[in-house]
Amino acid sequence: MVYYIRFLKPPKFHQEKKIAKQSRPQQKKSVSITALICITTDLGDDFLAEDVDLVATWAQRASRKSMDQCTLQWRAGSRQLAISMGPYSVDQVAQHDAVLQIRSQADPQDVLGRDTTPLVISGCSASFQWQSDAAQKLIQRELHISENKTISPLRIWEETGNSIARHIWDAALASIILLKESIAGNSPDTPILNQLLATRDRPLQVVELGAGCGIVGIALATMLDGCEVLLTDLPEVEEIVTRNLDEAHLKPSSTVDYQTLDWDEPPADLCSQPIDLILVSDCTYNADSLPTLVSVLDRLVRTSPKALVLVALKRRHESEAVFFDLMESAAFSAQSANLQIPAQHGQTDQIEFYCYQRDPIAPLS
Ligand SMILES: C[S@@+](CC[C@H](N)C(=O)[O-])C[C@H]1O[C@@H](n2cnc3c(N)ncnc32)[C@H](O)[C@@H]1O
Repeated sequence: MVYYIRFLKPPKFHQEKKIAKQSRPQQKKSVSITALICITTDLGDDFLAEDVDLVATWAQRASRKSMDQCTLQWRAGSRQLAISMGPYSVDQVAQHDAVLQIRSQADPQDVLGRDTTPLVISGCSASFQWQSDAAQKLIQRELHISENKTISPLRIWEETGNSIARHIWDAALASIILLKESIAGNSPDTPILNQLLATRDRPLQVVELGAGCGIVGIALATMLDGCEVLLTDLPEVEEIVTRNLDEAHLKPSSTVDYQTLDWDEPPADLCSQPIDLILVSDCTYNADSLPTLVSVLDRLVRTSPKALVLVALKRRHESEAVFFDLMESAAFSAQSANLQIPAQHGQTDQIEFYCYQRDPIAPLS
């Protein structure tokens, strides 16, 4: 299980009150940067129970030039860690919008890969200014998909609160690794996906269900030329997805759009054009929503019978197993693969992938 640095209290500049009485307060070193962080799972249900050395960097927002750094220790058993940097003079802090980046000292970059994905995912705050409120309750992940400089790092915003939808989930990180390997033709257990991503004479049409922050679909269009991705989810994700789309560096001939799609209330004209690939990452955790999820998959594949459905999941409850029964009843069969992601104390966690296609003999009832 990967752990994510989150802001419980986003950073802000804080000035000692007593300084205000002095004759030239702007010359005194009286301003500090304060924040409160935790290191938690995607679900936010557990805290990292390992000691980790962290580096906090105050940087200029626009240039990301570092203004100051300090080291911090997260201790096993902690639930939160207070950060206080400074003191600085008003002159120092008033010149530029600021951001605060927190990362594990062991990982100068977060590189997604079978052997490189870090245990602790770093983050950078939204911007904050002298004499204004704390930064927005957001954190941006910078995830390097490849050492190959032709692929831009993924910059994805998440909320710092406990929303299920407006977060990155572990299966999303693993999906990006599998897609990267498949694009390179290197996923031996899912040859059908390798083939789909390799051979195309027209743009690949992709729909993502339950896209959350949009990380998987955006990653695909960042890695692959000539794909047209439609991210879908409940209305509550629109703001964060739009923010992520605004900052995405896609391959020049690829596009990503967003549209609301609630599996419980799908529109009558659910699918107006053929789909090649349907992405579903970490959407099977709630057994109550599985019948409507499978019903939407079934309807999409009825109009695109050759579509491939890539489902990524981390098993959280036994009740999720009903998903496989529902998919079998809907005449889907799958190629499967696994990928290990880091967990604390040197352990690993498994993400499962299922590449579903409709059985050719599926009855049209
Ligand atoms: C655990 S999150 C996974 C988000 C993202 N795919 C990822 O892996 O980071 C599950 C997503 O399913 C979406 N979801 C749940 N019920 C839904 C429904 N009835 N219709 C559409 N999306 C739904 C949630 O809003 C949420 O974004």
